[in-house]
Amino acid sequence: MSASSPIDPQVLRARLRELEPAAAADPAAIRVIRAPGRVNLIGEHTDYNAGFVLPAAIDLEMRIAYVPTDDGRVELHSAESDVPLAFDLADIGAKTGAWGDYVKGTAVEMTAAGLPTHGLRGVLASTVPVGAGLSSSAALELATCWALSGAEAPAADAMTLAQLSQRAENEYVGVKCGLMDQFASASGVVDGAVLLDCRSLDSRVVPLPSDLVLVVAHTGVPRSLSGSAYNERRAQCEAAVATIARHEPGVTSLRDVDSAMLARYAAELDPIVERRARHIVEENARVLTAEAALSAGDLAAVGRLFAASHASLRDLYEVSCPELDVMVEIASATPGVVASRMTGAGFGGCTVSLVRPDAVDALRARIDGEYAQRTGRSPRAWAVRAVAGAGAVS
Ligand code: GLA
Repeated sequence: MSASSPIDPQVLRARLRELEPAAAADPAAIRVIRAPGRVNLIGEHTDYNAGFVLPAAIDLEMRIAYVPTDDGRVELHSAESDVPLAFDLADIGAKTGAWGDYVKGTAVEMTAAGLPTHGLRGVLASTVPVGAGLSSSAALELATCWALSGAEAPAADAMTLAQLSQRAENEYVGVKCGLMDQFASASGVVDGAVLLDCRSLDSRVVPLPSDLVLVVAHTGVPRSLSGSAYNERRAQCEAAVATIARHEPGVTSLRDVDSAMLARYAAELDPIVERRARHIVEENARVLTAEAALSAGDLAAVGRLFAASHASLRDLYEVSCPELDVMVEIASATPGVVASRMTGAGFGGCTVSLVRPDAVDALRARIDGEYAQRTGRSPRAWAVRAVAGAGAVS
């Protein structure tokens, strides 16, 4: 990271001294915490179906430099606005529709979970692009868990923080997301992805191939309409479960359904609902197969699984868009790109690719050239590293 990066700890400390000279008078009292964005390798829309996901926390991060206070007042400056986010922990009030809702909602859930919270004077900066599907909101929630914990680490483990952050988004902000994004930001590991079983909450590290680079490419299409379509997909999955459970009382989610069972009751399902369910059932299986292929170094299989996941999200779950399809098509046709697919909720946002180091420049050139020319969009690509979950910056 260059010293001029907005999230460089020295840059953040200097901004805090400038904006809050009184609070930041003692340099030893300033703390800096970080929470990463995430990219999902495979397992899309499976988290809210009690299935499997395989995300990695990435080195696009949210950071807060702050001084804890005893006054219960939160004042947080950001680059987005001249006016800091300001509220009292004892009187948080209703949501306002602004980014501060993620902070306030997390504060509400920390208190509900019995975790102590402290006021602060702070500055926030981020390299996680907003609206790109790289979980800037989950990063903000996890950063909040750490910053509001004062001078100590939060008095809860990473999974507890992820779950309360998810509740903040579900309840206070009103977005019915699953657990994946918060889990990834809380529990990432260096150079690895983490496979999460969203039913048992067991997780295990899946090392990323050391000879490949993780490339995230933003289509330039913001994910604006995703909220309602996301909730519609959730409802369709629940409808499939309700029908199948009439025959199979043990079925409480699509996690309990395999391809043979789905085929048995397919005729009773609305064709759209059947396609949605088929994506989930097959995607769950793909996550476990991908874990095995990554562990065995079978990159050809990883490539096929990414391609199948993308096709399923496009044709069965119908959450891709022309730009995501073009981005994947271009990457897949670039020599040295091992695997490529859309990542995250869809309807715009990013793709994820595994790329041989000597092919990264060629891929970037084709994204800047061919992709931009075919779509008229302004893409951005990042070669990212998998990093640890949220914590203090030493
Ligand atoms: C969004 C949600 C996640 C997950 C993905 C799709 O990122 O926040 O919980 O459902 O979409 O896999």
